[in-house]
Amino acid sequence: VKKYRPYPTLPFPQRTWPDKRIETAPTWCSVDLRDGNQALIQPMSLAKKLEMWELLLDIGFREIEVGFPSASQVEFEFARTLIDDGLIPPGTAIQVLTQAREHLIKRTFESIRGARDVIVHLYNSTSTLQRDVVFNMSRKEIIDLAVRGAELVQQEAKNYPETRFRYQYSPESFTGTELDFAVEICEAVMAVWQADEQNRIIINLPATVELATPNIFADQIEWFCAHMKQRDAAIISVHTHNDRGCAVAATELALMAGAERVEGTLFGNGERTGNVDIVTLALNMFTHGVDPQLDLHDINRLIDVYERVNRIPVHLRHPYAGELVYTAFSGSHQDAINKGMSRYETASAAFWEVPYLPIDPSDVGRTYESIIRINSQSGKGGVAYIMDHDFGIKMPKEMHPEFGRIVQEMTDREGRELHAREINHAFEETYLDL
Ligand code: KIV
Ligand code: ZN
Repeated sequence: VKKYRPYPTLPFPQRTWPDKRIETAPTWCSVDLRDGNQALIQPMSLAKKLEMWELLLDIGFREIEVGFPSASQVEFEFARTLIDDGLIPPGTAIQVLTQAREHLIKRTFESIRGARDVIVHLYNSTSTLQRDVVFNMSRKEIIDLAVRGAELVQQEAKNYPETRFRYQYSPESFTGTELDFAVEICEAVMAVWQADEQNRIIINLPATVELATPNIFADQIEWFCAHMKQRDAAIISVHTHNDRGCAVAATELALMAGAERVEGTLFGNGERTGNVDIVTLALNMFTHGVDPQLDLHDINRLIDVYERVNRIPVHLRHPYAGELVYTAFSGSHQDAINKGMSRYETASAAFWEVPYLPIDPSDVGRTYESIIRINSQSGKGGVAYIMDHDFGIKMPKEMHPEFGRIVQEMTDREGRELHAREINHAFEETYLDL
């Protein structure tokens, strides 16, 4: 029995999507150690990378981009440490990013010698803007660059027979690329790598910069998939950034439009406004009754490692994770939560359906304790909840308005939040001395 009810969809008979829903989890690829790391004021040390690596494995990532080994010594050494110290469990692939240049490709391969499972991630920029402003290259020249890179990768891989390679290509700045050109360049790379249904190539379509509304990104993904000659020879991956604040929405719509794989980071670290936040995405799925295949039951551990390693705080109101997101201060919310929780706890409800709480806090290792906190916005329901939950005193309904008023006077007088023990003290003073 699922705990969360799938969200209903509206019937729009003339549309195929967005009334589609996400039925299964995509393949996840964490880019915390690469995109996340390259955006930090102080990039991770080897020790910090190892700490993040361990967390990512425990969460259940089986594809992890470990870095850009040709770009920095720490990244190179990190890949070597994972391999030399036997830290990569069977079934987990490390992914390494490289540009399409010979010496960088060779150095990238040196970093992964001896690894069991490797995804070599080749990219070059394809947008009109980058072609004009940065590279001053024609479409043909950009395709030649990608094809040459793909050939070099394939040649180099022959020197590493002990490794099972998979290949990934990203037309970087895809969101600013003409769609027909994006298809053309990806197909040219796929041809070099001899993609077919047995040898599926990861085609990663990045919103390197989020340039439009999420439905436009999803349309781009759908158009791309529909116009590929060999759709079945590709795993369509998306890699969204959050420049317009819509990376989660864009990724969800992209999955509905045909993407099968998602690259992102914990809590949305990454270049500028960040990569898509995988925690939010996964828990959005979870609360619609879809198993995200990631273990997020101890969200406090994720926050702890994330904040220490990245030196970035998780916002108090971050979806599912923020310190305040399981807290209601206002009286009407407290009352409604109180009623919903009682109904759920008495097991008369098949699904978790508690007003104002889209997820059971205990599903991410949070407690109910912090749900009701009392300040001047609070009401009698919240006060009754604290007395019951924290002190085991079930006040008769008739007492609620009077004691609620007493507590409200206290909060007005003090001008701050009250601790549960202060409320209990007021209760004892008012009623137990009678
Ligand atoms: O955002 C981006 O386009 C990237 C690529 C290297 C995939 O990070
Ligand atoms: Zn990126």
